[in-house]
Amino acid sequence: MRLVALVFVLPLAGMAQGEAVYKALCSNCHGISGEGARGPALAVAKLRRAPDDRVLGMIIRSGIPNSEMPPTRISDRDLAALVEHLRVLRRRPQTAKGDAARGARIYEQQKCAQCHMISGAGGRMGPELTLIGQIRGEAYLRRALTDPQAEVPDNFAQYRMIIPVPDNYLRVRAATSRGESYEGVRLNEDPFTIQMRTLDGRLVSLDKASLTRLEKDSKSLMPAYPLPAAELDDLTAYLQSLGGAR
Ligand code: HEC
Ligand code: HEC
Repeated sequence: MRLVALVFVLPLAGMAQGEAVYKALCSNCHGISGEGARGPALAVAKLRRAPDDRVLGMIIRSGIPNSEMPPTRISDRDLAALVEHLRVLRRRPQTAKGDAARGARIYEQQKCAQCHMISGAGGRMGPELTLIGQIRGEAYLRRALTDPQAEVPDNFAQYRMIIPVPDNYLRVRAATSRGESYEGVRLNEDPFTIQMRTLDGRLVSLDKASLTRLEKDSKSLMPAYPLPAAELDDLTAYLQSLGGAR
């Protein structure tokens, strides 16, 4: 369910209406100066999805289906002021510090593809990253690398123990009475069986009666990557480049 609230924003003294609307409705996800966070940077020379103000207005009013970008009910006047403020933000584009080509090599060296898929290549233990640059801002990505646990609450952690949906990345370890052990992510579960994808990518279905151990763990499977700052810059620049050029 999407939350749609009609909001009236009163600007504080000295703050323009467009800025006030932006800070109230958008800055949580797009950063206070449009630098990006859970949502992509808006302080960029060119928006990927909004070639002109008309499309931009439609995106703001309707949101982007199947994404975390919500629809917003907003008056024509506030919308015009907001669009103008977004234009001001675009005049001060934020440029990535790192080098995307070097970042791509780090992605390979660190074997991120073990768990992540980019354009059809890679593993499925973590979310697909093909469009990640379109979806997330730099600071968020950097934190996803240095502190993967930080966003776990938003990755269904509170539901992980209860919802057997695929892609909830719940980590599972199991051992059978025949001495086999398995580690991976749960895909599905019922009272008698559990299906998982093992770390080496096999799909297994285990009969619970045959298990001597079944542990589920709501911590992220993703290891932390405390890389040197310059390498983090390069790797985030690479991730930012995924999802289409600006
Ligand atoms: C709950 C978080 C959230 C909020 C609040 C939010 N957005 Fe977004 N927004 C996103 C995400 C995530 C995307 C990327 C969606 C995708 O491409 O899959 C996005 C995408 C966009 C895009 C497309 C970017 C591009 O490069 O073309 C624009 C424009 C945008 N948002 C503007 C806004 C504005 C203006 C507001 C305030 C009225 C707002 N958003 C509020 C999360 C949010
Ligand atoms: C052992 C598996 C594994 C490896 C290796 C791994 N990740 Fe992840 N990653 C995950 C999982 C699982 C998540 C889902 C969120 C969570 O559980 O924290 C995730 C989340 C992410 C996210 C956040 C995605 C989002 O939309 O919020 C990014 C970005 C990311 N990983 C990048 C990388 C990069 C870059 C590397 C290599 C340096 C890497 N990961 C290595 C498993 C892995």
